[in-house]
Amino acid sequence: MNQPVMGGVAALNVPAYIKQQKLINWVADVAALTKPDRIYWCDGSQEEYDRLCAEMVAAGTMKRLSQEKRPNSYLACSDPTDVARVEDRTFICSATKEEAGPTNNWMEPAEMRATLNGLFDGCMAGRTLYVIPFSMGPLGSPIAHIGVELSDSPYVAVNMKVMTRMGRAVYDVLGEDGAFVPCVHSVGAPLKAGQKDVAWPCNATKYIVHFPETREIWSFGSGYGGNALLGKKCFALRIASNMGHKEAKAGGHGWLAEHMLILGVESPEGKKHYVAAAFPSACGKTNFSMMIPPATFNGWKVTTIGDDIAWIKPGADGRLYAINPEAGYFGVAPGTNTKTNSNCMACLHENTIFTNVALTDDGDVWWEGLTKEAPAHLIDWQGKDWTPASGTKAAHPNARFTVASTQNPVIDPAWDDPAGVPISAFIFGGRRSTTVPLVTEARNWIEGVYMAATMGSETTAAAAGQMGVVRRDPFAMLPFMGYNMSDYFQHWLDMGAKLGAAAPKIYCVNWFRTNEQGQFVWPGFGDNMRVLKWMLERLEGQAGGVENLFGMTPRFDDIHWEGLTFSPAEFETITSIDKDAWREELKLHAELFEKLAYHLPQELKDNMAKLEQRLNG
Ligand code: GTP
Ligand code: SPV
Ligand code: MN
Repeated sequence: MNQPVMGGVAALNVPAYIKQQKLINWVADVAALTKPDRIYWCDGSQEEYDRLCAEMVAAGTMKRLSQEKRPNSYLACSDPTDVARVEDRTFICSATKEEAGPTNNWMEPAEMRATLNGLFDGCMAGRTLYVIPFSMGPLGSPIAHIGVELSDSPYVAVNMKVMTRMGRAVYDVLGEDGAFVPCVHSVGAPLKAGQKDVAWPCNATKYIVHFPETREIWSFGSGYGGNALLGKKCFALRIASNMGHKEAKAGGHGWLAEHMLILGVESPEGKKHYVAAAFPSACGKTNFSMMIPPATFNGWKVTTIGDDIAWIKPGADGRLYAINPEAGYFGVAPGTNTKTNSNCMACLHENTIFTNVALTDDGDVWWEGLTKEAPAHLIDWQGKDWTPASGTKAAHPNARFTVASTQNPVIDPAWDDPAGVPISAFIFGGRRSTTVPLVTEARNWIEGVYMAATMGSETTAAAAGQMGVVRRDPFAMLPFMGYNMSDYFQHWLDMGAKLGAAAPKIYCVNWFRTNEQGQFVWPGFGDNMRVLKWMLERLEGQAGGVENLFGMTPRFDDIHWEGLTFSPAEFETITSIDKDAWREELKLHAELFEKLAYHLPQELKDNMAKLEQRLNG
């Protein structure tokens, strides 16, 4: 792999199968700026994946797990300062500040480019620049889009192989003039000649930058998750949301890029629906997308299309169709076990990259919640000896697994269908220990958009910063919006108006209400099927409900309880609506709306006024 270095510039050595000069020129330009020692063009093969993993094991970046316990699997432990998305270092550099909107960090594009040019100058010295071609969505599908990530992290290269359709076939789709989203990533840790590398290079200075006008992504200083795997949040949400909105502004129907899982659910009678659900980071998407219904739900089947991101477009029949642009899961490990999610545990049996979990003495992995009792000894995510008496967490709360979707035992047969699947309902849910009831059905599209727009959730370990603080997280998209949030609300309202009667129903849920002891009252996980079943019966016009302040809610008897002991009194504690708490909540809605006043749709303001009237009337 060592290629001759000519005059300080690594040889390009472009493979003959690459036909696009624009792409080649761009790689040459980025290499001239970042000055890597070598350039390596990823072909996406299994041989390449195995080789890069072996190189990382040799370099100390990853450990190979026991071949018996966890075949072909690895553990990577990050630098303790690089463990989650960095929202305060994430920027949307549109031409004007208004286009980025008040919920995004913004800097004047020329100024940001100057900053980045300084940071990227020579930042890959001593390293290999990996050229990583990938498709978000099935290769060649009319709804898929291509990206190419240039990264100096082999960890990123192997994760991108699992998370996307990555490899040589992408160049066939690109051809001589196909469009791609250029993504440049560096851990920001140049090596001097002879200097020994660290296991997880990164930089205290971090920039995760998007230029919507040119659809470019530049990421510096972090090697972790959404900061570094640029196909995921940067492209598939921030840039893609811009693309979908722009298409509508240009007179088309436009489309939606959403932080949503997509699941299929089939009744014993064989009636199948697909639903898409948005929950903020670490609030239950992966779990919901592969949920196992309770044993008493004979004949009900849940299947997964995707666990994190949905691209959604109107189809020829006037309904909305969704695809999962990803090909793998980058999921939260802590809390995952055979009881809460045995489908997920089955995915992780082999061919998995674990990041920031603990290592057992027999070469397997462990995290909080995996087993009731912790092992007597572990090596924790920071490489230190750990025992249950240590008083620290053995796995980082945002420890993750990377695994191909094809390992999911309940993958939906249509998960790879380029046409996508028709969506019957949208679900929005936050993590709220108080105030928000178990489930509400919006009476119409505008009410649904209002509920999604004003959603609040307690912050989690998925992002750097304080945990457990309630913040507004509209559509679970606060950290992922690529343009002005108010324009995005309008885009959703316009979409509903176009769809008319074919618009999906909208629901709002909360699995996380707690009792006085701070314990979750609702059992959650597979038991969420009880709520999902009520929704499906509502779609079919079969289930009852009552109207409350915000929409329709089930009565105790409208829910299927077989197999679960749950009293009407407990039901009351998670469905009750405390008017005083909601008056306080509405103040937070008003605060959000004040912040988003520019372009805030009138329909949403009117809906809030009606809510206030109902609450005080
Ligand atoms: P991201 O990958 O960050 O977008 O997270 P996610 O939305 O996919 O969340 P995930 O399903 O990974 O769940 C995050 C955490 O919430 C895990 O610790 C789960 O065990 C826990 N969790 C998921 N579903 C439920 C539920 O229904 N009830 C409760 N109490 N916890 C849940
Ligand atoms: C999230 O935080 O919502 C994730 C993980 O899915 S990351 O890829 O880091 O964004
Ligand atoms: Mn996510």
